[in-house]
This record gives sequence, C-alpha cells and structure tokens, in this order.
Amino acid sequence: MSAEAAGKILEMLRAKEMHLSGGTMSKTLGMSRSAIWKHIKSLRREGYQIEAKPARGYRLVAVPQHLTHWEIQKGLGTEQFGKSLYVFPQVDSTNVVAFRLALNGAQEGAVVVAESQTKGKGRLGRRWESPVGTNIYLSIILRPQIPPNKAPLITLMVAVACVHAIEEVAGLVPAIKWPNDLLLGERKLGGILTEADMEMDRINHVVVGIGINCNMTHTSFPLSIRDTATSLQEVLGREVSRITLIQAILRHLEQWYKKLLQGRIDEIKRRWGELSLIRGKKVTIAFMGTMVKGTALDIDDDGALLLQEGEGTVKRIVAGDVHVKGVITDVIRH
Ligand code: BTN
Repeated sequence: MSAEAAGKILEMLRAKEMHLSGGTMSKTLGMSRSAIWKHIKSLRREGYQIEAKPARGYRLVAVPQHLTHWEIQKGLGTEQFGKSLYVFPQVDSTNVVAFRLALNGAQEGAVVVAESQTKGKGRLGRRWESPVGTNIYLSIILRPQIPPNKAPLITLMVAVACVHAIEEVAGLVPAIKWPNDLLLGERKLGGILTEADMEMDRINHVVVGIGINCNMTHTSFPLSIRDTATSLQEVLGREVSRITLIQAILRHLEQWYKKLLQGRIDEIKRRWGELSLIRGKKVTIAFMGTMVKGTALDIDDDGALLLQEGEGTVKRIVAGDVHVKGVITDVIRH
C-alpha cells in the first residue's frame, strides 16, 4: 500500500473533527472506496483509532503513542532531512540499519528511527541502553563533500544542533563534553556515535547516531548507570514529546550541517566553545590504555581537541575519553 496515499487520508481525517464520508475521500483523492478502506485498515494497524460509521463515514479518534513516520513527517519543516524516513518498532541498532541503507545508495538526509534497540551501540564498543518507547534512537545518513580529516567536526556540529533542539523543546541547555556527550547537571543525557565509510581522500557516507534519554524515569535506568545518566523527564518532572524533539533535531541538524558544508567552521567552533563543559578546564584523557593530562584549550579546524600539557606543548587529541574532575559519566558506562 502506498504510504503517501494513507498519509493523505490521515491529513483529511485530521482536518475534520466530524465524520468524513468514504465518498468524499474517494472523490478528493481519486481512489476507489475499497482502496480507501484498505488504507484505513492499515492506519489502524499502525495504531490510529479510526471510527467507521455506516452512512456517516470515518473519524479520527486517537493517534498512536508510539512513533510513526506520519507523525514525524507532519509539520517537519526540513528541506531534505527526514524526507526519507524509516521507523521501526525494534532494530539491532539504528546505526547498523542506516549504514546498510547507505551502502545500498540511500540518499543524504535519510533517517532511521526505532522504538527500541537490541544492540544499541555506544562509543568505543560500549552498549547503549535502548528500552522500548521512552527515548530517542535515531540515525541519519550524510554524504558530506569534505576532506576526511574534517570528519570529526561532524560529531561536534551534531552535538551543537542537538543542544539547540533540546533547548527549543525542553527549555534546557545541556553541556557538551568532547567529543560526543550531552550532559545535564554532569549526568549523561545523550550521546552521538558517528560512523563513516571513508577512503584516503574522500568520505563516501557518514552515519550519525543520536541517542537521547527522553522519558526514562530515574528507577528505570539500570543500576550500573542510574547515578551517572539522566533524562529530560527526570530533570523536568514531566514527559517530553519524542516526536517534537525528533523534528527539532532534524531541523537544527539540517541548518548546522549547511554551515559545515559552507565552511562556516568558526561559527560551529564558537558555539561549541560556549556549550563546552571542558573548555579551559583541567582534564585527563584516556585512550587505548594511555592517559594524557592537561588543560582543554579549544578544538581546532578539524575538530581535534587542543590540550595544553603543563606550561608547554599543545597536543592535538583526536579520540579518547575525557574525564573532568567530578564528571564520571564514561567511566561507568561500559
Ligand atoms: C555514546 O555516547 O557512547 C554514543 C551513543 C550513541 C547511541 C545512539 S542511539 C541511536 C544510534 N544507534 C546506535 O546503536 N547508537 C546510536
């Protein structure tokens, strides 16, 4: 069945609080009454409650609580991001699904969203808790025409975009902990996992995975991360619409991605600096068994972290776990 046709039926039903006759719909949409009925049945299967009354027609009674592509695309307001959208009840990892789609030629801006993940991936081989129906698990395919050495900027740009989206929807401004953590009150609210298919001199595609703890309650976090993770719900004391937040993320992401492609890296660096938890602070960075200590100065034009060791040299750090005194998010999340 065509999702587009079902979407049009849904729009007509939304626009009318009263019953809408099958005849009117079939005339307006140019399809048979039995086709309309088939689409109604498939919308019902998606969780839309649609009343059907003889001689009066159809009426939309309730929309589903879970994510559907119709709800996400309604009023999305992007040019390209999310126009191609795959919504699943469960996947192993949205990044894995998106990577496969990208290898099969999916377009830039295609988005994969899931209600839950059985093998949600965090950075450095860690697991990402992905229980059903409460959080955002989203991956987007990008095909940036930028040199591979600039790829780390993508994660930073996405972090900035996510902060703007969260501020718009929840009125909270998370801090960014280089390279990919979003923190509220020094607890982990979300993370970004960027995976790329690259050659020496070009990026074929990038999959950016975004996980945001939206409506998890304190006690529903596993004990191992209960004291180091948080959710918007926990901080606000109320639920946040995942649909509204997904839409805001896609909108802000599209705007910040354009800046990246236009080479407006100073704007990204400036905003990142304002939101950064670690800029100007003494940090320890752990990577593959080694530790480096120093003061986090800034990021450079390629997205590497500039770390001043004592009074002396400035080192470029391209990967690692940053530990700031008092902030222990990554030590626990194994
Ligand atoms: C981290 O902080 O370690 C990164 C976490 C990224 C989690 C998201 S959830 C959506 C996407 N799919 C995954 O398997 N991981 C990312």
